[in-house]
Amino acid sequence: MSEQGNRLRAYISGTGSAVPERVLTNSELERIVDTSDEWIMERSGIKTRYIGGSEMATSDLCVKAAARALESARVAPEDVDMLIVGTVTPDQPLPSTGCIIQERMGLKNAFAFDIAAACTAFIYGITIADSFIRTGMCRKILVIGAEMLSRITNWEDRTTCVLFGDGAGAALLEPCEGPRGIVSTFLRSDGSLQDYLYIPAGGSRRPHNAETLRKHMHAIRMSGNSVFKHAVRAMGDAAQRVLDDAGIASSDLDLFIPHQANLRIIKATAARIKVPMDKVYVNLDRYGNTSAASVPIALDEASRTGRLKEGNLVEMVAFGGGFTWGAVLVRW
Ligand code: UT7
Repeated sequence: MSEQGNRLRAYISGTGSAVPERVLTNSELERIVDTSDEWIMERSGIKTRYIGGSEMATSDLCVKAAARALESARVAPEDVDMLIVGTVTPDQPLPSTGCIIQERMGLKNAFAFDIAAACTAFIYGITIADSFIRTGMCRKILVIGAEMLSRITNWEDRTTCVLFGDGAGAALLEPCEGPRGIVSTFLRSDGSLQDYLYIPAGGSRRPHNAETLRKHMHAIRMSGNSVFKHAVRAMGDAAQRVLDDAGIASSDLDLFIPHQANLRIIKATAARIKVPMDKVYVNLDRYGNTSAASVPIALDEASRTGRLKEGNLVEMVAFGGGFTWGAVLVRW
């Protein structure tokens, strides 16, 4: 999906992010499961993550992140005409978290919905928003990636509980005709690999009961090693694909923002497309893996700290359960 030659495209006019206050450190995790700060740092690169309290829901983080995005874009809530929320931890099954946020933020003239594409949901959301803007159907679209993974974590499983964190990131997309905006996008999924990363119960196939809860079947199960290998290959391929579609060399990139799951995955992906680590945005040491929120939180940080400047070429790429993966190339 390349937009070369198509004049009207979407650009990201504002960003925002939010995390809970509570920080959970590796040494605290040492007291919960049989692990060590050294193992977590060496195998994943994670030092701390943010965890929401029992009173918090995903939409609470979304509202904060989205308000910041609207503020930075100087856009009023009633001017938003579409809201996409990427999450696997909605507030509740019905209504969508999108509709809950719409009501709380006063997005009176919008339509809202959730998408489930795991860690790739923000990339999916940006791509959907870009196509609605290019067809002229919408003019101001909020895309949010948000998770409270702490709610679907088995705190007795050391192979997963040390990895995840809670957070939300948001972006506002608007039309533009100049050089700025989304240059090319790529999305893919492969449902044949779903068993490597999944939640066994809690849906229509296996509704929750005492047994599913006792067996932690509401929580994420992951074959870390297999996910690792697929993530590196898929993110590398997707990242290269959007560059090729746009006729741009990886050496022209100013910033590369990969999904923040594991520092070794990030390094291997960057090496695959030959991007030096000083052009790679890394914040997973502080946030852990926040799934759909990881790319938009990093994007917001990069924008607010001046790491991303107008005219820069930035590429975002993600991979997650499904499997799903994709990439977006943006002239900032
Ligand atoms: O966001 C969606 C995508 N998700 C990802 O991209 C995550 C991908 N996977 C990974 O990041 C890595 O596979 C992990 C960080 C999850 C694991 O790293 P690994 O190098 O693949 O370790 P491993 O699973 O091969 O485990 C090595 C050893 C095992 O012990 P044995 O069998 O060698 O005796 C594990 O039992 O490390 C053990 N281990 C731990 N030890 C201490 C697993 N978890 C822990 C732990 N603390 N927390």
